[in-house]
Amino acid sequence: MTRPSTLSSSLDLIGNTRLVLLRGPSEAAGCEIWGKCEFENPGASVKDRAALWIVRDAEARGELKPGGTIVEGTAGNTGIGIALVANALGYKSLIVMPDNQSKEKMDTLRALGAELVTVPPTKFADCNHFVHTSRRLAEEMDGAVWANQFDNVANRRAHLESTAPEIWEQLEGRIDGFTCAVGTGGTLAGTGMGLKEFDDKITIALTDPYGAALYNYYAHGELKAEGSSVAEGIGQGRITANLEGAPIDTQFRISDEEGLEWVARLLREEGLCLGLSSGINVAGAIALGEQLGKGSRIATILCDTGFRYLSSLYSAEWLEAKKLPVFDWLRSS
Ligand SMILES: Cc1ncc(COP(=O)(O)O)c(C=O)c1O
Repeated sequence: MTRPSTLSSSLDLIGNTRLVLLRGPSEAAGCEIWGKCEFENPGASVKDRAALWIVRDAEARGELKPGGTIVEGTAGNTGIGIALVANALGYKSLIVMPDNQSKEKMDTLRALGAELVTVPPTKFADCNHFVHTSRRLAEEMDGAVWANQFDNVANRRAHLESTAPEIWEQLEGRIDGFTCAVGTGGTLAGTGMGLKEFDDKITIALTDPYGAALYNYYAHGELKAEGSSVAEGIGQGRITANLEGAPIDTQFRISDEEGLEWVARLLREEGLCLGLSSGINVAGAIALGEQLGKGSRIATILCDTGFRYLSSLYSAEWLEAKKLPVFDWLRSS
């Protein structure tokens, strides 16, 4: 892949992110750990890809008409991607978010001009869950489409058609494993499917946070959650349409403490300011590297920027309230 330095459309800024060799994780695993810099997307997260593919798909199906509204339920990052894509294409956006997500994401959505509705966090089975609320709002509104990122496979197609070929080309076809955590499953399933099309010997691994049910599903065939996590955007309790048929060979479960340790080390040792799902992904990539052995090459996703979590992950007060270890350099402030 040659990454063009001039582009004819702002939407072409989505994707074609760079892949960086992570020194500390590579040393820890005894192999090469590469991170896909998804914070380079215009909305600073991996979810810009899903947003663009979902909107283009709705246009192609004739569902989204000029001046229409894109409605979505999201932990925040997909909403930010949708708001930017909607602005670029002349649509409106209405975003429904659980009110326990980061303040920075809510402020960003309002700043981008999206209409924001927040709802209390609740179980998926509850009809007031943010996903169901967003579907209802879309149904009630003229000219609106529901993006439905969890069960709309245009989401995983984004990764099948963009993330996977980018990684394959960037590593010149020398890749042994790929892993990431699951929110909708679009990234893991789409990138996994795409990489397997290039070489079906590439090991695809799920990296699950605690509080999610997928580790037990892929390990033991039972959707069962244990523990909890404060990570935003990841942690799934069901097999979404995006996950159906995902080529998952193995699975790891990573605690918030392990993920936070890598968030801290990547910031202090490599100058990368990331969110917790990136730290969990890197810990999962190290586990996969240890399993695949010395000399192997593993890729994972650096999902979003840490600047989105200054009042949570990067706040001593917040970390203490969550009974999580406080980063050394935050202690005295
Ligand atoms: C910060 C972050 N990491 C990871 C993910 C998971 O990506 P996916 O929905 O493709 O499984 C998301 C999804 O919203 C996210 O916001």
